[in-house]
Amino acid sequence: MGVIARYREHLPVGPSTPEVDLKEGSTPLVPSLNIGKALGLEHLYFKYEGLNPTGSFKDRGMVVAVAKALEAGHRVFMCASTGNTSASMAAYAARTGARAIVVVPSGEIALNKLSQALMYGAKVVALKGNFDHALETVRDLASRYPVALMNSVNPHRIEGQKTAAFEIVDELGDAPDYLILPVGNAGNITAYWRGFRQYHAAGRATRLPRMVGAQAEGAAPIVNGSPVADPKTVASAIKIGNPASWEGATSARDESGGAISAVTDIEILSAQIRLAGSEGLFAEPASAAPLALLFRLVRDGKIDKDAVTVVVLTGSGLKDPEASLKSVEPPIELDGDARTLAKVLKL
Ligand code: F0G
Repeated sequence: MGVIARYREHLPVGPSTPEVDLKEGSTPLVPSLNIGKALGLEHLYFKYEGLNPTGSFKDRGMVVAVAKALEAGHRVFMCASTGNTSASMAAYAARTGARAIVVVPSGEIALNKLSQALMYGAKVVALKGNFDHALETVRDLASRYPVALMNSVNPHRIEGQKTAAFEIVDELGDAPDYLILPVGNAGNITAYWRGFRQYHAAGRATRLPRMVGAQAEGAAPIVNGSPVADPKTVASAIKIGNPASWEGATSARDESGGAISAVTDIEILSAQIRLAGSEGLFAEPASAAPLALLFRLVRDGKIDKDAVTVVVLTGSGLKDPEASLKSVEPPIELDGDARTLAKVLKL
């Protein structure tokens, strides 16, 4: 079942909305076995969004945005992207026979994300400049031409993405104490907060979580309180200097009593390796930012040990292996038999 079928009554869909799905959503909430123990946290979970059909959480919002765009008669979809949005949009366009045009910052997105958009048949434009410039350009174009803008400024994207909050509450039986996630263009933190509030209002949860957002230090406009002209970080998915949903993020933070803080690239990459090596969960660098922040919050005594904490792993590690490979030992090159192999392995 896709997210529209599963959460239909909470989404802006009706009888004239076409049925679209790639069986997205319903991703696992994996309990931590080792990191939680090491941190002294009894109830730590990972919402593994990398298991969505195109490998990131973007599929939840895209399926709703695509269904609504088709309902409105659009046949050309367009977005700017740091990679995952474009992969997702291209997949749903392929499935529904629509045209996909994606604009990515030239030379700035992970190869595997680019290969997804190309394989799904999108027209890909690599625009000189950063993501913020690409988004500005696409918004300008979409205001003048008959194309459906599929970035998270499209309200249907946020509607679809809020279903991840529903799933967490459905599985835990209530909202967690902390929800920690990466913040780039800030659509997802906006969406989760909406989802938690709606479920709370509907009596499905007795409480609301504190919303905790992680930005990368070189791309931390919300933490700094002003746009970053030239954002820099190894976590290319969140290399964004002027988030479109800025206000949604600060509202989520302030209304929930949460926080948005920055972590360094070194913290991000070491959290990514620790997650993979001690939990068996490979997430892309942007997705490791919230775990890096959790490490710091625990170190600073800011997280209650018996709190229920959910870290959102927004995208699969297979999206951007190049970024991660620099920080692990390369394979051992060997020409030999079992004896030499055993010797090299010190067995
Ligand atoms: N994690 C991943 C893996 C992402 O791809 C993104 C955003 C985020 C976190 C941040 O989410 O923007 O809602 O705050 N990627 C966008 C894209 C910008 O174009 O794929 P956000």
